[in-house]
Amino acid sequence: MKNTLFRLFFLLLFVVSVQAQEASYFYATMDSNDASKLKVALPNEIDIIATKGNQSAVYIARTAALKLQESLLLHGPGYVFKSSLEKALFSLDTKAINQQNKIVNFTITEDVLVNQAINMVNSDNIEDDILTLEGYGTRYHTKTSAAQAVYDLKDKWEAMALAAGRTDVSVRIFNHSNTNMPSVIMTIEGAETPDDYIIIGGHIDSINSSNNNDAPGADDNASGIATIIEISRVLFDMDFIPKKTVEFMAFAAEEIGLVGSSEIAEEYSYNNINVEAYVQFDMTNYAGSSSDVYITTDTYNSASLNNFLIDLIGHYNSSGDHQFTYGTTACNYGCSDHFSWAQQGYDAAFPFEAAFGQHNPFIHSSQDTYSMMGNTDHATKFAKLGLEFVIESAKSNALSVNDYLNNKMLLLMKDKQLTYRLVDLDDTILEVSIYDISGKKIVTHSSNRQSGIISLQNLDLGFYIAVFNFNKNGYIAKKFILR
Ligand code: BES
Ligand code: ZN
Repeated sequence: MKNTLFRLFFLLLFVVSVQAQEASYFYATMDSNDASKLKVALPNEIDIIATKGNQSAVYIARTAALKLQESLLLHGPGYVFKSSLEKALFSLDTKAINQQNKIVNFTITEDVLVNQAINMVNSDNIEDDILTLEGYGTRYHTKTSAAQAVYDLKDKWEAMALAAGRTDVSVRIFNHSNTNMPSVIMTIEGAETPDDYIIIGGHIDSINSSNNNDAPGADDNASGIATIIEISRVLFDMDFIPKKTVEFMAFAAEEIGLVGSSEIAEEYSYNNINVEAYVQFDMTNYAGSSSDVYITTDTYNSASLNNFLIDLIGHYNSSGDHQFTYGTTACNYGCSDHFSWAQQGYDAAFPFEAAFGQHNPFIHSSQDTYSMMGNTDHATKFAKLGLEFVIESAKSNALSVNDYLNNKMLLLMKDKQLTYRLVDLDDTILEVSIYDISGKKIVTHSSNRQSGIISLQNLDLGFYIAVFNFNKNGYIAKKFILR
């Protein structure tokens, strides 16, 4: 009798748990073609709630989501988790909303700073950071070591900003509703137009399809995070002060459906934050194809931002020490966090390590380790592209004083006359602007030569800043004392 009761109890337990699993449905958005195929294959496990363009909002069973991963796509999940029906529908609509009134003009004007920056990239730092991240053993979103990696990156960024003496930098943790793992965001507040945002990001979590206790995620995506950290280090070391706000993001829980980035992008969109451009770094260190950087041309990406990246490579990386090549490829689905930003209508791009299909074959396994790659030559190219992108899109604050070109521009002050002369730089000065210490422009002097004299007889004695605008090399700003 006791035995039968026991058996009954276990049978009940089994039935309840099977039902609980079957009842495990969630909202998501996905490619509408995938959704229709799934509806044909598993009619009871997916409801297509709404479709707009090539995206559908669905209510889907976990079992069906797994099938999607196995059968329809090379890589899954191929869907983006949404915590509610409202959010799923909102995602279908927002693209149109944000795309209104948006004209972002990408230009290349900061040659001096960019050339300085790309010379400073150090591949050893990228190696160190990949090894550190791999060292957590797993960064699967439910593990405490994943959260620890995020808190440690927060500490690292705070220490870097402090060491650089930056009061315009802050680092914050972003807690999520649909994962216990947090994300981390570092912000450099724009000096001139802080409401305009330039963002680079990547996911810091990892996954192993067979055992999430061992998910080193060295290429996917310690490489992207290490690339972003190195970009930030160079910007601090060169005292780069952006006009626009620049943010660096490390996302939680990308590997289970872009959970971290979609919550953040939704919040930015909800708060009407003007993100002018978002660039994703996810897998930067495996050189699987004949070219170096692969610009992904998925239709949800921004063609103008992609063209800007291509122009940057053409301008800064077509010859010389920093030369590398590019090709184009596509994921054909929302394969990484840039999709979360694109879905909110923001201009997004994803420069990738190889042609799709020739990428690192060890990802999502215990073999995605640094030793499988051996060096960071490949990621170093992405760090350079990232610096080119950040500096040229956020632009340098004109009143930051660039002392590194001290020896290129000679100034002499005598009898309230400022004599300037360019040495060893193949360029001409178009215009010289003089600012007072409050930042007000008080003199504009056109030059069109390599040297000249500006008479400042009617100015008070004291501190001023002279900004020399070049024909080719952007500008140099120098402080001087009028006497
Ligand atoms: N790094 C990959 C994305 C990737 C893999 C891009 C291979 C190109 C080639 C990312 O971490 C990932 O695994 N994404 C998922 C989809 C996501 C929505 C969970 C994938 O591709 O399976
Ligand atoms: Zn992945």
